Amino acid sequence: MMNNDYHLPENIMQLLNTKRNDNNQESFQELIRPGGYVPPEIDLLTDAITALSMGKNVLLKGPTGAGKTKFAESLSYLFNQPMFSVNCSVDLDAESLLGFKTLDYQGEKQIIDFIPGPVTNAMNYGDFLYIDEINMAKPETLPLINGVLDYRRTITNPFTNEIIKAKEGFGVIAAINEGYIGTVPLNEALKNRFIVIEVPYIEGDQLKSLIQTNTNLSDKNLIDLFVKLSSDLITAVHQGKLSEDAASIRALLDACDLSVIIPPKRAILRSIIDKLEEEREREFVNNLSDTLF
Ligand SMILES: Nc1ncnc2c1ncn2[C@@H]1O[C@H](COP(=O)(O)OP(=O)(O)OP(=O)(O)O)[C@@H](O)[C@H]1O
Ligand SMILES: [Mg+2]
Repeated sequence: MMNNDYHLPENIMQLLNTKRNDNNQESFQELIRPGGYVPPEIDLLTDAITALSMGKNVLLKGPTGAGKTKFAESLSYLFNQPMFSVNCSVDLDAESLLGFKTLDYQGEKQIIDFIPGPVTNAMNYGDFLYIDEINMAKPETLPLINGVLDYRRTITNPFTNEIIKAKEGFGVIAAINEGYIGTVPLNEALKNRFIVIEVPYIEGDQLKSLIQTNTNLSDKNLIDLFVKLSSDLITAVHQGKLSEDAASIRALLDACDLSVIIPPKRAILRSIIDKLEEEREREFVNNLSDTLF
């Protein structure tokens, strides 16, 4: 079961209805995502929908396993619009963004073909572009698409010299996990081009229902204990006792799944504790796990 029944404000529903991509079914329907993000507050979705429908870019900012990618996928679902994605790394270059040339045959004749990349595709079809881990890219790479990200919505493809102007509907969603190893601070000019939405770890009843729908765990008592564990982990993160990743919802869901078969304490060890860098942190979570399970 997917969590896609949002109680969006009336005006936002109307906005979505006018912007939804229901008539544009020419291609890439398989890139319309299933959604399933559970927002801690409906404002997060409201604001992202508002920004995107005005042609503004959205930057989802939050720790690992907070649901940023799910959030972006839910926007694709809500707008009923395909979403191309780019995964940033130090190897990201112009070709992986824009596309590349390749040799092909037309009968006997050799021709040069251009295989479009995610940026070119999303622009040409008026679809979404998801840029994941945007601060993992080398600082000089993303400025290539500055013109795509501002009001111009235009780029000159350096491989074909073609000027591409984004089709109506084109929108950019990016995700960032600040302070994570390997990341660089996001260039100010780049950050300036986004509306920023903070994505925190969900808690309480929302987490409970996420565990019920997204894991195999059904034991009510155990589910409540995992929700308590998560809230204690989040508190410890806020107090500076643990690094942010310790409270990752992704890791918690893994622990829930494993504990259907193996004892919960061992599930927590494998999914959460053994990922922590410092002995002090591992001991802290171990004690917490001992008191609860
Ligand atoms: N609020 C949420 N709603 C729905 N699913 C969530 C939520 N928070 C965490 N999850 C679940 O946790 C897992 C990780 O989510 P996701 O991949 O979207 O996180 P992320 O923020 O993109 O992490 P990363 O920074 O590591 O890429 C998924 O299985 C997702 O379903
Ligand atoms: Mg992600």
